[in-house]
Amino acid sequence: MNAQVDFSDVQGLVRFGYKRMTKAHYDLLQVKDAGAAREWLRQAPVTPAETRDPPPKTALQVAFTVEGIRALGTDESIIEGFSHEFRSGMAASFKARQLGDTGKNAPENWEWGGPGKEPHLLVMLFGEPDVFEDFLSAQTGGLYQQAFELQACLDTADLDGVEPFGFADGISQPKIDWEQKKKSREIVYTYENLSALGEFLLGYPNEYGNLTRRPLVDDNALSSSLDPAPEDPRKRDLGRNGTYLVLRQLDQDVRKFWDFIRKQTGSEDPDADGLAAAMVGRHRDGSPLVKPSGQGDDDNNFNFDADPEGHQCPFGAHVRRANPRNADYPERPRNIFRKLLVTLGFGTPGFRDDVMSSVRFHRILRRGREYGSELKPEDAKGPPPADEPPRGLHFICLNANICRQFEFIQNAWLNSTKFAAMTGERDPLVGNHEPPAGCPVANHFNRPGKDGLRQRVTGLETFVTVRGGAYFFLPGLRALRYLAGP
Ligand code: HEM
Repeated sequence: MNAQVDFSDVQGLVRFGYKRMTKAHYDLLQVKDAGAAREWLRQAPVTPAETRDPPPKTALQVAFTVEGIRALGTDESIIEGFSHEFRSGMAASFKARQLGDTGKNAPENWEWGGPGKEPHLLVMLFGEPDVFEDFLSAQTGGLYQQAFELQACLDTADLDGVEPFGFADGISQPKIDWEQKKKSREIVYTYENLSALGEFLLGYPNEYGNLTRRPLVDDNALSSSLDPAPEDPRKRDLGRNGTYLVLRQLDQDVRKFWDFIRKQTGSEDPDADGLAAAMVGRHRDGSPLVKPSGQGDDDNNFNFDADPEGHQCPFGAHVRRANPRNADYPERPRNIFRKLLVTLGFGTPGFRDDVMSSVRFHRILRRGREYGSELKPEDAKGPPPADEPPRGLHFICLNANICRQFEFIQNAWLNSTKFAAMTGERDPLVGNHEPPAGCPVANHFNRPGKDGLRQRVTGLETFVTVRGGAYFFLPGLRALRYLAGP
């Protein structure tokens, strides 16, 4: 019997997108005075994931990089318990090629998060417009100023659910199995959106039925408020109810994107030819290119079964790469007798029986927000005026295993030139199309058509540039107080 989730110990962002709180502001901080920082953390009114009536109008969330945890004086033996990718950080030199962070996107060019510019803390403040400014000044004055040095301040914009290129965003999210009813290790024959709790919250079984690596600490007076570790009752679980948060500041060149589309289609109409929608995999209003297969008009109730050749939604489209649902699996067990035997528990299930294995281990919970002002596709033309502020996406995702979830999607799906047996392509929307040193150019986008014909778009430019990024640990509330010390 799995333990119920104690929502009072989980930071709210794991459960809610705080969409009603249309104002949001993220501070990237360095610890200036460790004593004051610990004191601020002990008393910070971090918002839990409990539901309240009436719901809160503001929320405060706190996450740490590995350097931040170190700066609070945490013992190295505890830090060792965090995952390797969290400890090495997003800007580690060996990650650059994997994540597409080369050329202009290289960490050396980032405004924050690159070598020598790693933040310690991420403090996220959300609020409804009428109360936000007061909340912001109340939380960030006094002790906060004494404890931290502000490294960067990331403002966000409310573009009403539309990302800067002009497409509805935040539609497809995995459904978290909070009640832990989903059987792990189950053979899955159809795409489903329900993900094991342990994919997003540490300390619970993940899609493999295992507990993801996380720090366990000695059982003593300081750790007594933490839950005992399920796998070792002599230890307390510092990771439980926490997760990892990936933040990437992604500048979007909206003018370059729509100029490219206009040049390719030869039309002033942003929707002409559907090229932009084909690159995303959805129309601008969010409706999918593949018709939803289920009942109702749920824009997320579809898979790629009805489009095995990529005629409706190209294989290279952003959403098909970011979540291939059941599309990238070439050889599914079509033999009904075999399917039945495996389901009934006869015969050893092989890798090829679990048709969803390639997808269900690589889901992320997206919690990003846009920045900059709106520029409608029809107005996005020509070079920007000299003083035009940047616009883009503060991409945020939550996952229990950065390597298997975020990094896999970024590397093996979005950035891979071999995804779905294609060649010479990366994600047309977010890919880095400047080839890394020694690699061939991969700036094409293919739209398979009926009768084996395909439209090949060449010379794709890089529309998204990385401006900063880091991996954070978003602890449970009791773990946060533990890190703050006695
Ligand atoms: C500026 C950069 C980006 C833009 C403009 C962008 C835009 C979009 C849009 C318009 C959608 C479709 C709407 C939706 O389902 O919410 C989408 C879906 C998605 N994106 Fe991105 N995205 C960006 C970066 C990324 C990155 C870096 C990742 C992961 C590493 C990612 C992962 C996903 C995922 C997982 C989905 C949902 C796919 C599905 O389940 O159907 N995106 N994105």
